[in-house]
Formats: sequence, structure tokens, C-alpha cells
Amino acid sequence: MALILGIETSCDETAAAVVRDGRRALSNVIASQHELHRVYGGVVPEIASRAHLERIDPTIGRALEAAGVGMNDLDAVAVGHQPGLIGSLLVGVSAAKALAWSLGRPLIGVDHVRAHLYAGFMGPADHAGDDPPLDPLERAGDDSPFPALGLVVSGGHTSMYAMRGPTEMTRLGRTIDDAVGEAYDKAAVILGLPYPGGPHLDRLAAGSDADADRFPLPRSLLSPTSLDFSFSGLKTAMLYRVRGTPRGRGDRAEFPRTAQDLSDADRRDLAAAFQRAAIGVLRTKLERAIDHMSERGDRPRSLILGGGVSANSLLRAEALGLGRRHGMAVRLPPMDLCMDNAAMIAGLAHEHLRRGMVSDLRLAAVATTTM
Ligand code: KG4
Ligand code: ZN
Repeated sequence: MALILGIETSCDETAAAVVRDGRRALSNVIASQHELHRVYGGVVPEIASRAHLERIDPTIGRALEAAGVGMNDLDAVAVGHQPGLIGSLLVGVSAAKALAWSLGRPLIGVDHVRAHLYAGFMGPADHAGDDPPLDPLERAGDDSPFPALGLVVSGGHTSMYAMRGPTEMTRLGRTIDDAVGEAYDKAAVILGLPYPGGPHLDRLAAGSDADADRFPLPRSLLSPTSLDFSFSGLKTAMLYRVRGTPRGRGDRAEFPRTAQDLSDADRRDLAAAFQRAAIGVLRTKLERAIDHMSERGDRPRSLILGGGVSANSLLRAEALGLGRRHGMAVRLPPMDLCMDNAAMIAGLAHEHLRRGMVSDLRLAAVATTTM
């Protein structure tokens, strides 16, 4: 049995979790900073790193206490060391190094984006019963979940991966401008919804029963074979749909109306139109990626989603539909492991530990991803 403490500070959540055998989160503590960034409508890096400094020790303490384990029970200390905001990452990496060194336990640096994909193999953190019974990662041959197609969709990332294992993957495509979660958050601001707006927009859209073509919005697919994404055009189209065509450009643009001038039904239908366009693009790109992998003799056996937007109701339904149509198993993270959390960091670290992939005290915080 391996008990791993995970630490995650890459963006605006200070998180710590204790995970048993890579599968079961015994605790999953997330100290969110949303209230600090809300007035700015986005994450302010300097505020984030300062808040991580204040919160990291108590968050680790709470994670150990909630798991009912002491520091000395830990077998390793894991940290998300890339990618993210550099000042934020440094806080988690420094805390993990200090703990690993003082306890004499291995330090394991984990890629945040890969960890999002691992979350689909974990049981929900709030589940109190037996450990998740399946261990698909250990299954071989026809029962193996790999090769798999992975999609990470969050506030900072929109990328697809051809996965040969939980730690082995190559990127097939990524966004060339906004991440889909970022587009959701901006569309939500345009609609006058609270920050971060993705979940609010998802709920608002669910109330719409309008015709799909009431508010047509563009779906940018780039070239006919491209596996990359682009969401900035959708965001701008949403702005003009909601607020009307502006007079003047840039900071001096004057819009004829605000979201408050629209009826509740219009706001609901616009949210649904945005949701259909954004998730429709993801579905089309997933279909292209399935074809792309199949043509190369790597037909995906499973579809794995990760990141905050994998909590989206329409995306989850579309993923299950794709799984049925293409005969793929679909692995969706439990709802409490979609957003940034440390359980996924400790979970993936277990796979690293099994492979002897441990770090040393030179582990660096890196703003970009190496994949
Ligand atoms: O993974 P995450 O916590 O942070 C990053 O690594 O970026 O993802 C946060 C993002 C936010 O943009 C949030 O609005 C979005 O995930 N999100 C959603 C939903 N729940 C969270 N977007 C659409 N629908 C949702 N239900
Ligand atoms: Zn994330």
C-alpha cells in the first residue's frame, strides 16, 4: 500500500490530498481563491501566489487530518510542477521539497495536464465505500484501456492526446488562442453571470428549449483536417449577439445594450447557443482525432476526459454518445475531480512511483508544459 500526499498550486486553487494506491482519495482539500479574483473577472498572478503562501501549510494540515494520517505515514510527496503560473507553482514546489526532504521520502514532480487525464481512473473523493474495484490501468491485451484518446479541457488548456499509457502520450492538437474554459468564462461575463462562469452558463443553458438555429453562432474548425482548436471567434460573436454591433473599436467600443436589457428567455437561449457551438467543436475534433488515430493503426479503445470543462453536462453526454458510436469505453472524472485538485496529482504520482520515475530536490517549477 502506498500513501501519497499531493500538492497543487498551479493556478488559483491551493490544494492538498492524500491518495491510497493511486486510486482512492482519503482527503481532497481545495482552498479556492475565487473571491480574491472575482472583482477582476480573472486570475491575477501576484494575488494568487501570495494567497498560496498564506494557505499552503493549513491546507496540507487539513488534508492529513481529514485522511486520518500523520506525516510519517506518507510514502511520497507529489507536486504539480508544470505547467501554470510560475509564482504559484513555486509555492507548491517549495513546500513539497521541504516536506519530502524533512521526511526522507521521495519527491515526485507531476505534469498538471497529464494529471487531469488520470482523474478519469480515480474514484470520487467523497465516496465512503470500498475502493474503486476496477483497475483498468493494470489490464493488458484486449482489456487494456489503451491506446486512448485524451481530451483536456479547462480554463488554461484545450488539447487532445494519443495516449499509450497514463504517463505516455503525444499531443494531437491544441488551441491556437483561447482555451474552451476561458471562452466559457468570458461568455459568462458577457451574459452577466458570476465568475468563474462555466458552471453558471451550463446551468442557464439547460433551461433553454429554443430552436437550435434561433441564435446561430460560428464554429471555427480551422482547416478540414486540423486537430487544433480556436475559440476566440466564438467569443467575439457571442459579444456582438448579446450586446449588439458596437460603434468604434477596442477600448472605445460603445455597445447599444447590455445583457440586462435582454429577456430571461433570450439570455437562456444565447447561453444554449454558445454551449452548442463550443461543445459541437469539441465533438467534431474528437471525431477527427478518432479517425486520425484509427488511420495510423491506433484505433482508440477509450476516450478519456479531464479538466474543469469535463464537468459540463453537454460534453459528458456527447462523450458517452461518441463512446457508444465508436465502441470506446468512456472515462469521465468524478465531478469533484474535474476542477483543479491535488488528488489527481497524488494519483498520477503513484504511476510515476511504480515506474521509478522520482524527482530530486532540483525539481523546477516550469510555466509551460513539455508535451
Ligand atoms: O481545471 P480547472 O479547474 O482549471 C484549469 O486548469 O484551468 O478548470 C476551470 C475551468 C473554468 O474555466 C470553469 O469555468 C470551467 O472549468 N468549468 C466549466 C464547467 N465547470 C467548470 N465550463 C463549462 N461547463 C461546466 N459545467
Ligand atoms: Zn487544471
